[in-house]
Amino acid sequence: MGQPTPSSSQNSLTVRDNRTGKTVDIAIEDNSIPATAFKVLSANPEKGEREENETTKGLRVSDKGYLNTAVMRSEITFIDGDAGVLRYRGYPIEQLALHSSHLETAYLLIYGSLPSQPQLKVWEDEVMHHAVVHADAEQFFRSFRYDAHPMAILTSAFAYLGSYYSEANPSLQGQSLYTKGSPESFAVMDKQIYRLIGKATTLAAMAYRVRQGRNFVTPPTGLSYTGSFLYQMDYLGEENYKPNPVLEKALDVLFLLHADHELNASATTVLQTGSSLVDPYSAIAAGCASLYGPLHGGANEAVIRMLISIGSPANVPAFLEAVKKREKVLSGFGHRVYKTSDPRSFIVRKTADEVFRVTGKDELLETAMALHEAAMKDEYFIKRRLAPNVDFWYVFTSRLLPCKLNCSVLRSGLIYRAMGFPLDFFPVLFAVPRVVGWLAHWRQMMLQPGGVKIWRPRQIYVGETKREYVQSMNALRRKSRPHRYPILGEITKRTMLATFKGAKL
Ligand code: CMC
Repeated sequence: MGQPTPSSSQNSLTVRDNRTGKTVDIAIEDNSIPATAFKVLSANPEKGEREENETTKGLRVSDKGYLNTAVMRSEITFIDGDAGVLRYRGYPIEQLALHSSHLETAYLLIYGSLPSQPQLKVWEDEVMHHAVVHADAEQFFRSFRYDAHPMAILTSAFAYLGSYYSEANPSLQGQSLYTKGSPESFAVMDKQIYRLIGKATTLAAMAYRVRQGRNFVTPPTGLSYTGSFLYQMDYLGEENYKPNPVLEKALDVLFLLHADHELNASATTVLQTGSSLVDPYSAIAAGCASLYGPLHGGANEAVIRMLISIGSPANVPAFLEAVKKREKVLSGFGHRVYKTSDPRSFIVRKTADEVFRVTGKDELLETAMALHEAAMKDEYFIKRRLAPNVDFWYVFTSRLLPCKLNCSVLRSGLIYRAMGFPLDFFPVLFAVPRVVGWLAHWRQMMLQPGGVKIWRPRQIYVGETKREYVQSMNALRRKSRPHRYPILGEITKRTMLATFKGAKL
């Protein structure tokens, strides 16, 4: 504090509070400054200033929507949104998509390095071995209505799953269950990781089947992660049933691409929830709820609904005009981080080609193409650097994409549609692989140096200042003129007009 010193001025920020003339020197570490450093800048309130500003208690840092706030030191995923770079633990996503598998990448994301062959074998065996859920779970799934949104089912199912494992619950076993760093603590943590990744496909497949009125199937042995998932959704008693290998592989690539995306809304929600040291099942359920929203994982569903509502390429110009007037929402465009091409889009493009060769193309494609072309020429979108995001492009075929764009939401939607998944199941196909990323971030937070700090942000209170309670006019009226009717609760106009025993009209 005070005047900046020569040694600290090299890699530091000097801030002068013009209210008081006070100067603070804040160290810069990894190109960031701690927000708490501003707490020392307090001042006397200005004349008439609201006491709720708490000006004497130090300066607050406001950042609605976390536009420039780093909440973790992380070693997991790096995104350069301007350059279109995405790396998991240092490996470019393109290389992983080409050479790795979803489960191998999951190991990498969670534990920090690629597994050796024996490690991979143990890991895959453990995850697949934990796919089975207790037979009781059937009742849980059957309690949902036939038309329940599968994300509502999946979100609830993750929380429900936690109820089986009292040994995994810090509320029952002690707060330091996951933060101790002891061999026992690691073992408990690993087991919940196997269970959550292993059972994610099972829960999702059960959510799928309950809506189709189908019986549930036991997870098969001898199939890959996505092969088992497809089997659990589609098997109807056929002999030697095997999912189509092109679809199995395509799903595996899409899962790998969706496995993590740094501190997006759902990963942040998992950490926010996990920061109270709640069990990982509850934290994953919270992440799942966050992902469900149409600004995040629900976008791939929203894109298809939007394309259906546009109807044909001829309606695209009118639709875009409505978007610019903010009367309509253009789903699948824009991203908080990517301002250029989403590196995943090129892989998705290739995957889309492979899938469409097997399934045929989607009739929404022409509308999607027209929308893309019109938007990319339009000043409104160019100025705001709004390009199709990952969810948009999942609905396209490669021939459309000479793109220098950020693009996968659209494509995922069309690939999933081509594969015959129901629209509302698309976010589930995003949530299942994202369990991996959520767990990687959760594990990292549990083991971070210095322990877990509960995430408790500040607010800027702009509501009413202190005021005295005054009884409402209705309450006063009721006191002076008691009800004439011998019934409980508020009397509606309809009741006043009704006739019944005891009514005094
Ligand atoms: N259509 C039209 N205008 C848009 C769009 C869009 N899809 N997205 C952003 N804008 C405008 C926005 O109105 C604002 O304009 P102005 O400066 O005139 O007020 C400007 O672009 C900046 O947008 P923003 O809302 O400040 O950007 P953000 O970083 O807060 O939001 C976003 C990012 C992804 C929520 C947003 O772009 C959006 O709502 N997109 C549509 C939903 C979508 O596709 N979501 C999937 C994201 S990718 C997958 C994932 O990560 O889950």
